[in-house]
Amino acid sequence: MSGTVAISGAKNSALVVMAGALLCPQECRLRNVPSLVDVGRMGEILAALGVKLERQDDCLTIDASSIGQSKAPYELVSQLRASFFIIGPLLARLGVARVPMPGGCAIGARPVDLHVRGLQAMGAEVQIDHGMVYACVKGSSPRLQGAKIYLDYPSVGATETLMMAATLADGETTLENAAQEPEVVDLANFCRAMGAKIRGAGTNTIVISGVPSLHSTDYSIIPDRVEAGTFLVAGAITHSEISLSPVIPDHLTAVIAKLRAIGAQVFTESPNRLRLVSTRHLEATDIETLPYPGFPTDMQAQFMSLLTLSEGDSVITETVFENRLRHVAELSRMGADIRVKGSNAIIRGVPMLSGAPVVGNRPTGLCGAGVGRTCRKR
Ligand code: UD1
Repeated sequence: MSGTVAISGAKNSALVVMAGALLCPQECRLRNVPSLVDVGRMGEILAALGVKLERQDDCLTIDASSIGQSKAPYELVSQLRASFFIIGPLLARLGVARVPMPGGCAIGARPVDLHVRGLQAMGAEVQIDHGMVYACVKGSSPRLQGAKIYLDYPSVGATETLMMAATLADGETTLENAAQEPEVVDLANFCRAMGAKIRGAGTNTIVISGVPSLHSTDYSIIPDRVEAGTFLVAGAITHSEISLSPVIPDHLTAVIAKLRAIGAQVFTESPNRLRLVSTRHLEATDIETLPYPGFPTDMQAQFMSLLTLSEGDSVITETVFENRLRHVAELSRMGADIRVKGSNAIIRGVPMLSGAPVVGNRPTGLCGAGVGRTCRKR
């Protein structure tokens, strides 16, 4: 490979920011929205709630001035775990939300207990019945109450759900042990552009002071760090020279450090451009996936592919998700030498792989959609 790649807007930001637009009783314009199946699905979910959407190129206009429904349809939610994010904004805006439990994914069961406990701490009554999460705010005011919430784990989704819910709550909410991922910061910036009062996003303590209402905004989504990281790995594995833009290099610190550790060269050519040069054989390294700023679980499979061809033994430890080593069987079919012990994969580099029929994102019943449907999580 050689050349320059344009990196699209971050999928995980776009999905949650789309949900966040439910907080606003006026039209919001989102730019740099990637063109992906999941974005289309999130759009369908919002449309089912009565929201008007219009897409032109990478610009998506969302008008949630009237929300006719507080119940999200199971058939749509089951196809996209990220759709559970709508529970926070719906509850904050309407005082009631009915959202099906999300299906899992090929990467584990993925519970929502942290989202639910946080909403309960803010005064919501939550019941889970027949696979549906019913949440409502009882009492004379339909507003959630600010609260001090400690997350047992810095879950990205729970941090985002609770941050959105808190924007319109009465009083101040503090999220301790919050996720620090760039997509959390992007959501906070979007909410602030609508008039929300949020500080500390990007650290492990986020403080949100509730405001009575939010207003229209025009907001551009950050570049996708996983797409950028995936191209960097593709460049390294093919011993290529490639250039990527736009990117935010700081979002890729752990990925760049590991590429350099195995012998690839990565240069920051300008504040939003990276260049990778991979000329020599690559070496083994050990990787442990962690919450940001640690090494991202969403880059683990790509690095495993790369390490199958690196010289020596590497160990990858997946700590974020319980079942995210399913690609091992597929890589093995292509001649990779990988042994799995619990959440560790021990990879012994081989000189080359050979072509074989393989499956990406093998369907599982956990997707909530049954056999025949693939789950499009990264
Ligand atoms: C998001 C990203 C996903 C990424 C992940 C971790 C989106 C749409 N998806 O997923 O690409 O891989 O962050 O960076 O943004 N957990 C609980 N209880 C909860 C919530 C989570 O136990 O209530 C557990 C999960 O099962 C998992 C871990 O926490 O083991 C991390 O999950 P979380 O950070 O919430 O990931 P998501 O928001 O689902």
